[in-house]
Amino acid sequence: MKIVLVGSGAREHAIAEQLSKSASLYSIMEKKHPGIASLSQEVLLCNPTDKERVVSWCREKGIELGFVSPDGLLEKGVTDILASAGMKVASPSREAARIEWDKGYARTLLQKHNVAGLPAFKVVSSAEEASAFLAQHKEVVVKPLGLTGGKGVRVMGEHLHTEQDVLDYVSELLKKDKQALLEEKLDGEEFSLQAFSDGERLSVMPPVQDHKRAFVNDAGPNTGGMGSYSTGRLLPFMELKDLEEAKSIMQQTIDAMQAEGNPFRGILYGGFMITRDGVKLIEYNARFGDPEAMNVLMVLRTQLSEILQSIAEGKLIPVAFSTNCTVVKYLVPEGYPENGKKDCRISIDNKAIWECGGKTFLGSVYESDGQIYTTSSRTAAVAAQDASLERAEEKAECCTRAIQGPLWHRPDIGTPLLIRKRTEHMRRLNR
Ligand SMILES: Nc1ncnc2c1ncn2[C@@H]1O[C@H](COP(=O)(O)OP(=O)(O)O)[C@@H](O)[C@H]1O
Ligand SMILES: [Mg+2]
Repeated sequence: MKIVLVGSGAREHAIAEQLSKSASLYSIMEKKHPGIASLSQEVLLCNPTDKERVVSWCREKGIELGFVSPDGLLEKGVTDILASAGMKVASPSREAARIEWDKGYARTLLQKHNVAGLPAFKVVSSAEEASAFLAQHKEVVVKPLGLTGGKGVRVMGEHLHTEQDVLDYVSELLKKDKQALLEEKLDGEEFSLQAFSDGERLSVMPPVQDHKRAFVNDAGPNTGGMGSYSTGRLLPFMELKDLEEAKSIMQQTIDAMQAEGNPFRGILYGGFMITRDGVKLIEYNARFGDPEAMNVLMVLRTQLSEILQSIAEGKLIPVAFSTNCTVVKYLVPEGYPENGKKDCRISIDNKAIWECGGKTFLGSVYESDGQIYTTSSRTAAVAAQDASLERAEEKAECCTRAIQGPLWHRPDIGTPLLIRKRTEHMRRLNR
């Protein structure tokens, strides 16, 4: 089967690796990603929203199935472009991806269909509405409705310190977007639950915990995600009922979208928080997480190409995972996230990575004269799995030493010390 993958980063590198095992991989990306290119039969370098070029290239190559990975391209309707070339697609349409690119749509849809797990929220369009919401809730979170690359949400007590700070940020957003989302601030541990959906059925992957903050011990600014771990069916701070609640919220969402005539086919990602009052939905993404994709794809035991085909045909097949623990760590350029140092040469010792027992996926890099260079975004991810989390973490750490360049990473992700912090936080909530 000929599959086309659209997108290029470490997440897409991991997807490409899986797809190329059992299908002929074709890929479309803006700039050549050396890792994905080497796994592909052919590569089209162009802006994926260039409908004419994309459609004629896919027709010429006889592509049968399409998968669009990054959020920005889903919002731009690249899945619809692929579908218009006559192929089957396993990623959401622009309209279905709205569950991610319009946080107001997501919240309102769930409210209308009485889906559980919603925090108190209000889509506001004036400072007066924001003040009224503030009067009802001690602490709030302010969110732009649209995509911000993980950099738009501000939380009281962290980024906003007074009610005036909240109102100032709201008015800044109102000027830009005319609307903003306010939510009650929740306390708890977060996890990501990714699921395959054919528009009707849902099949969840192992839950993963991401680390958004830049520095050790969750200090510093928010990033695209510095690394993540998984531990089989449940995370160390989770109970089975938490997983069941999250699954049920996601299934109700899939049902609601189908009832609205806007079925969701592809990867649905629920960002959840386990609180004193049960599992709450923080947000939806319409795609794999980055880094979380790498955790789950490492332990996937079903061919990804077959799963995607079954999604596209509306007949989701059963999906299996091993119960191994996984650890992913991102190496990022000096100065990241504010000012990542770009155009620096890096070198990867693949033999050493292999000896460590892990693997590496290239992120935002480019190739020139056979050498790999940084951009200002996340450079490369190292990933490892093992029956023991401790061992998987050690393997991942070992891999970081095999990559040379002006890069840094978080050595604490997946370590026993940080895991203990998570479980203690959960215990303090006194559930
Ligand atoms: N209601 C909330 N209460 C507490 N923290 C929140 C809440 N909503 C979001 N956050 C924090 O902000 C982060 C980003 O919010 P999210 O809605 O996932 O937006 P995005 O990923 O688009 O930036 C979350 O991972 C969480 O840490
Ligand atoms: Mg998020």
